[in-house]
Amino acid sequence: MSDNYYELKNKLSSLQNIRAYVNSDVVWYRHYDVDVIEIPNIILENDIVLETLSSKFKLTPLVIRFDSKKWHRWHVDAVRNVGLNSIVQGAVGHTVFGVPNKDGHYYEIDEVIYKNDNVILLDVTKQHSILNLGEPRVVFTIGFPKTVMYNEVKNFCIENNL
Ligand SMILES: [Fe+2]
Repeated sequence: MSDNYYELKNKLSSLQNIRAYVNSDVVWYRHYDVDVIEIPNIILENDIVLETLSSKFKLTPLVIRFDSKKWHRWHVDAVRNVGLNSIVQGAVGHTVFGVPNKDGHYYEIDEVIYKNDNVILLDVTKQHSILNLGEPRVVFTIGFPKTVMYNEVKNFCIENNL
C-alpha cells in the first residue's frame, strides 16, 4: 500500500478549545450532506502545529459534522489535495483509502487510524471513503490551497518535527 497518510508526532494543543467551541451555541450550516462551522482564529492561537504550518501555508480550518449511519462513496476531494484532520467527537467511524482490483468488485484498503486525539495528514488526491456507523462524527480539518501537494506538507512536518 502506498503512502496515503501520515500521523504527526504532535497533537493540537487547541483541540480542547475546539471541542468547547463546537459544544457551545454555534450555528452549523448545511453543505451537501454534512454540517460545517468555521473556527475563529482566536480558538487556534498558540497552537504550535498550526502556527508552524501557517508560517508556510495558507490554512483553511473548518469543523465538519458527518451524520450517523452514512457512507461517503469513493471520491477524491475537489477543492484540495491535502487535508489535516483530528477527531473532535465520535470515534466510531472508518476512513479508508482504497485501490480497486481488476474487475472493481473488491478494493484493497488502508484504514486511517484515528486514536488518542492524533493528527493525520491525508493525501486526498487518492480515492478514499468514509463509513460512519455510530454517533455523528465531528472532525476538525485543515484545508490547504489547491496548489499544495501532500508530499510538500508531509516533508515540511518532518523537517519541523511536527
Ligand atoms: Fe474526502
